[in-house]
Order: sequence, then C-alpha cells, then structure tokens
Amino acid sequence: MLKHPSLMHLIDIESLSAETINALLAAANAILKGHAVKISQNIAENTPVATLFYENSTRTRFSFHLAASRLKMTCLDFTREGSSASKGESLQDTAATLVAMGAKILILRHPEAHSAEQLKEIVGDKASIINAGDGAHAHPTQALLDMLTIQHHKKKFNDLRVAIIGDVLYSRVARSQICALTKLGVKAIHVIAPTVLLPQDIHRWPVVLYDDIAAGLKEVDVIICLRIQKERMPSDLFPDVVAYHEQYGLTQERLLLAKPDAIVMHPGPMNRGVEIESSVADGKQSVILEQVHNGVALRMAVLSAIAEERCQ
Ligand code: NCD
Repeated sequence: MLKHPSLMHLIDIESLSAETINALLAAANAILKGHAVKISQNIAENTPVATLFYENSTRTRFSFHLAASRLKMTCLDFTREGSSASKGESLQDTAATLVAMGAKILILRHPEAHSAEQLKEIVGDKASIINAGDGAHAHPTQALLDMLTIQHHKKKFNDLRVAIIGDVLYSRVARSQICALTKLGVKAIHVIAPTVLLPQDIHRWPVVLYDDIAAGLKEVDVIICLRIQKERMPSDLFPDVVAYHEQYGLTQERLLLAKPDAIVMHPGPMNRGVEIESSVADGKQSVILEQVHNGVALRMAVLSAIAEERCQ
C-alpha cells in the first residue's frame, strides 16, 4: 500500500515541496486506478469534516463532499445563506462552533485573500484547514487536480509549455497553477492577457507575457482558459465581452496554433462564447470534464493524508 504524503494543512501550493506534490498526485492516481488509499474506519470516524463555503460553488463543494463520503468521513455542510453567518456570526465563531462539535478538518472557501491562513492561526492545532479558494490568493486543490490531469496526458512536466489565458488578475487558480507548474519544473509558462487583467507585480512572476494570443499559443502543449470573473471587477474595468472574445477567446482556429496534441483546460464555471468557444470546450482536445472527475480522487488523497497525519 502507498505511504500517505505527510500533510497537516493545505493553505497554498507555496508551502508544499515538489516531493509532497508528487506524493499527492501518486496517491490520487492510486485511487483512480481503484487501489484506494485506505484509511481505517477508526481514523475516518475520528475525523469529521466541515465545509465552510462563504462563496457559491458547484464543483469544489460537491467534490469535497463526495471525497469525504467515499472515505466514510462525516461531512458537515455549512453555507453562508443557510447558517448563522446570515445573522452576522463571524467566521471565527462559526469555526469554533464546528470544532466544538468535533470537526477535525475545516474546508474553507472565502472571498477574502489569506483568510485560510488566518483561520489556521485562530483554530491552532484543534483542526486542520484546507483552503478551497480564498479571494484572489490561492486554490491549491484546483491546481493539484489540474497537475494530475496534465500528468495523465503529458507524462513529464519538464518538457512542457503551458499557456494560461485570461483573467489572471482575479484568479486564485492561476496563482496556484503557476506555483505548482514551476515547482514541477515545466519549460515555460505563457500568460496571455490584456494589461487590465494582469496584476501589477506580474513582472516578478516566473512567466512569459503575451498580449497577442497567436504568438502566445505557438508550440504550447497545454492551454488553460480562465473565467472572466465579472462579479469581482469594478463594472467599468471590463465593458465589452464581445471585444474580449475577438481578441482573447480560444476558438477552433486559434487552437490550431498550438501543438496538434495540445490539451484544453478550464477550471469552470465557463463563460461559453467569451473566454472559450463552445465547440472548443466540447471538442476532442478538451479535458475539462476529466479535471472535474480527477478532482474527487485528488481531494480524497488530500483528506486521507491529513486524517492520517492527525491520528499519528
Ligand atoms: C474557480 C474558483 O472558484 O476559483 N472555480 C473552481 O473552483 N472550479 C474559478 C472561477 O470561479 O472562475
């Protein structure tokens, strides 16, 4: 049986070594092949999980629920609307309440950057924290499931050119992906976006910038489209989605500029016809639903690693 990767919290990719990333990918692969990374009934019973989602989510929330239930862990489901947070209860008090009921892993999605780290400081060693997306800061399980999906198609990371197109400014996914891809040693990361959708410190990131999508897609093995996150932007920042699609949308025609076996990824939810043409999203090169499928196994690997570590 595979040894569990050693993990107590999962806040961001920066805190993981390449060795831990590879161990989590190996554990998720074993789960996908049916060699479930087993945790004992005792450990599962002793590790109730709570999802604290202060933002809407389909994929990430259901994926964590399914992962916990496949591991036979109890999963408490918190959402802002259906809970006392709607009466003004603070994150700190909500977390303390769930921990008092016995939750040992808190999975947090929150609109504020660095809230997962802050919750970790507050909760101390009473529970482990998994960051399920905090503001524009980090979304580590999304980046890990993306690495797992890339690995299935491309085997070795160090030969790869990866293009990331779109709203990098508001994207926690892009930040975590870039960190993971860098740790895994890819050859190059092309960031393709208009200047208004780039963070001010982008020049310090380990990426090559392209304003022109045709130049940026040349020779790439992996294309990641990002959602235009209109709900996070000031309304005047991004007035025209039609013009955006014309300049930066991934179309069939533009896909031909990448390597013929390039894969197309998107973390979802998609704005079809904006960052990605519908026929590309559903096309032969798209692995978008594989990403979703792999997410459950990856999250099982993360939850079981943390549960094992807590019960040592
Ligand atoms: C992403 C998120 O919420 O950060 N989606 C996801 O978790 N699958 C990306 C997005 O909302 O665009």
